[in-house]
Amino acid sequence: MTVFSSDDRATFAANYPEVPHKLHHRLGHHPLLDLDALASLAEKLPASSIEYNKADLPIGITEKPGASGLSIGDTIRRIEQTGSWAALKNIEQVPEYAALLADLLSEIQPEIEARTGRMMKTQGFVFITSPNGVTPYHFDPEHNILLQIRGSKVMTQFPAGDPAYAPDEVHETYHTGGGRELTWRDELEAGGMKFPLGPGEALFVPVMAPHYVRNGPEGSVSLSITWRSEWSFAEADARAFNAVLRRIGMKPVSTGRWPHGNQVKALGWRLIRKVRG
Ligand SMILES: [Fe+2]
Repeated sequence: MTVFSSDDRATFAANYPEVPHKLHHRLGHHPLLDLDALASLAEKLPASSIEYNKADLPIGITEKPGASGLSIGDTIRRIEQTGSWAALKNIEQVPEYAALLADLLSEIQPEIEARTGRMMKTQGFVFITSPNGVTPYHFDPEHNILLQIRGSKVMTQFPAGDPAYAPDEVHETYHTGGGRELTWRDELEAGGMKFPLGPGEALFVPVMAPHYVRNGPEGSVSLSITWRSEWSFAEADARAFNAVLRRIGMKPVSTGRWPHGNQVKALGWRLIRKVRG
């Protein structure tokens, strides 16, 4: 049996890569995604692939939140009580998880490649969150489907590429080595779309679409399956090129969203990168 039905694949095909949309998945309570398995996974991953902190945060933060003082294994096993948020990054470093990621993405690879060409740099992330925890306002560079496995959450998404939600300068800083946190103002809330997610549901998040997440009343586990495309790499490189133009006093035109390719500016940045070695 496939994890995504043919109806869901059709929904994905009609909306990818620019329109956020909900999907369903049939992953159920996959043994690799129960709390004990995830705690063992966290203990296998390098420290650089683990991020965790307290989860009683406001929507907007300007720097990384403080440590919780617990081990990652305890944080995950006792997620109902620890008031924490944990992210396990690049789970494909562990073979069983690499196989899971590859299986899931292979189901939608034809739909992906029909729109944005070769599927590149596939990565998997798992998020484990305590009741009512908050993931503050930020953006991410990947094409992403978030699969809700247990518990519930609401993701509020904002339009990708609209400078009202993330100014061009912030994109440019991000693509030249800055952080992914975005500045929150309560006036932004009106422009957000709320996507409630329960077990068996999934949500597509377009590249660089700002979002924040509020967890429901139970501990939650979500699996994020992500990929990059030539379009996403070109957009990122064109943003970095715009950072250079801005630094020399110009006011560069913003990058275009898909299907605009941003090829000339991307090539400009690739040449600069080459010269700089
Ligand atoms: Fe995110």
